[in-house]
Amino acid sequence: MLDLCVTNCRLDTTDEKVSLGIQDGKIVSIKKSVQKLPSEPDEIIDVKGKLVLPGLIDAHVHFRDPGLTVKENFFTGSAAAAAGGFTTVLDMPNTIPPTNTPRAFHEKMKIGGKRSLVDFGLHAGVADLSDIKDIAKYKPASFKIFMDLVDDDFLLEAFIKINGVQSNSLNGTQDHTPNGSQYQLRDNHPLISLHAEDPEVVQQYTKEMKKKGSDPELYALARPPQAEIEATRKALSLAGKFKQSIHFCHVSTKKSLKLIIQAKNSGLNVTSEITPHHLFLDSNYLKKYGNLAKTNPPLRDDQNRLNMNYLPQIDIIGTDHAPHTLEEKEKDVWNAPPGIPGIETILPLLLTQLNQGKLSVGGIKRLLCETPAKIFSIPYKGFIAEGMDADLVVVDLEKEGVVNPDNFQSKAKYSPFKGFKTKGMPVMTLVRGKVVMEDGEIRDNQGKFVYSNTEVEY
Ligand code: DOR
Ligand code: ZN
Repeated sequence: MLDLCVTNCRLDTTDEKVSLGIQDGKIVSIKKSVQKLPSEPDEIIDVKGKLVLPGLIDAHVHFRDPGLTVKENFFTGSAAAAAGGFTTVLDMPNTIPPTNTPRAFHEKMKIGGKRSLVDFGLHAGVADLSDIKDIAKYKPASFKIFMDLVDDDFLLEAFIKINGVQSNSLNGTQDHTPNGSQYQLRDNHPLISLHAEDPEVVQQYTKEMKKKGSDPELYALARPPQAEIEATRKALSLAGKFKQSIHFCHVSTKKSLKLIIQAKNSGLNVTSEITPHHLFLDSNYLKKYGNLAKTNPPLRDDQNRLNMNYLPQIDIIGTDHAPHTLEEKEKDVWNAPPGIPGIETILPLLLTQLNQGKLSVGGIKRLLCETPAKIFSIPYKGFIAEGMDADLVVVDLEKEGVVNPDNFQSKAKYSPFKGFKTKGMPVMTLVRGKVVMEDGEIRDNQGKFVYSNTEVEY
């Protein structure tokens, strides 16, 4: 007996419609919609030929819980995720306390388990290197290193320690992608995610730019492309030396992407991410929106920036959803915090590109479902296939809108995309067969930690 059947789904741009049979939160059958169902399900949702994608995975969010909940918390952040079509998020460790001890990691697992509406994983921070082995037992999505905040010695030691952890002694990272996909980036040890900006370059240029006043445009020059390029080079060299898998968060320059691709071609397990703001905006937005467009790494000028043309060379889109209060953003450019909320706007922005013929359905699935699931070894996510979790987002490709931050579920009601016209919108989000968003309305749900059923005692 099926719990739910989602009928008349289009899984791509062809006319074929299928019915997805769902039981205990998993997709158990995919049948042509004209066929008679094997048994009468408890519930039927007829999506009437709308496009249905695997629930999106955001590998880069800052939900600020615990400690910074004035900006966001796991409930509001995950509501924003559901509104944006996301069913899995991987949360960053720069909370208070930071997620860089086994205890803090376990505490955040509990917070997410209690408050998150969507499924979640956690990136771990790196502080006391002797904690790494114990944190690894909880299966972090990655160990995140903010290169702009550490020196070379620490970076080297962190690579050595993380590289020394054998993940097959941690119940392994089995491949739960369909067809037993061979793609397994996590080799034998945990993944390292990097915020690649060189601290010395940042310090030097920031000092220079502070002398010039406080125009928000100066921020782009205070953390120049060279900072990212230097750090990328350094990280690639360490990855090569230790045969360590690394993932670059928010790649923002042509040159650093080129270095990453060269390293990939030479056989390194290295992957790249772009944010919606680095994809669609340039540094002129700092002039237009001031600190609301302030982010690290900063928006780039035309000569250095990436854009839609580079998307085929990039592995994933991570929103770097980084909410702050408007009050904080009103400070001068050197004191306002960097960060842009983006989890509610990326899908409409990409569907607009799809409607304009600049992106395919397959492209969206690759960047926001399949490859994030593979890079971060997220079990049963990222694909619509039998045996996978019934995480789905139903899309109305005709629905037009205008980005209006007042309507965000996120606490951060600002966006440099304000006023952008969009065509294509998520209209329903299901997490393991449960509707968590319908026509913008959020429904309660209990999200779960994606990496384990195995409770690790601490
Ligand atoms: O713009 C950013 N905001 N970059 C970061 O690295 C951190 C993030 C935040 O937490 O606000
Ligand atoms: Zn971030």
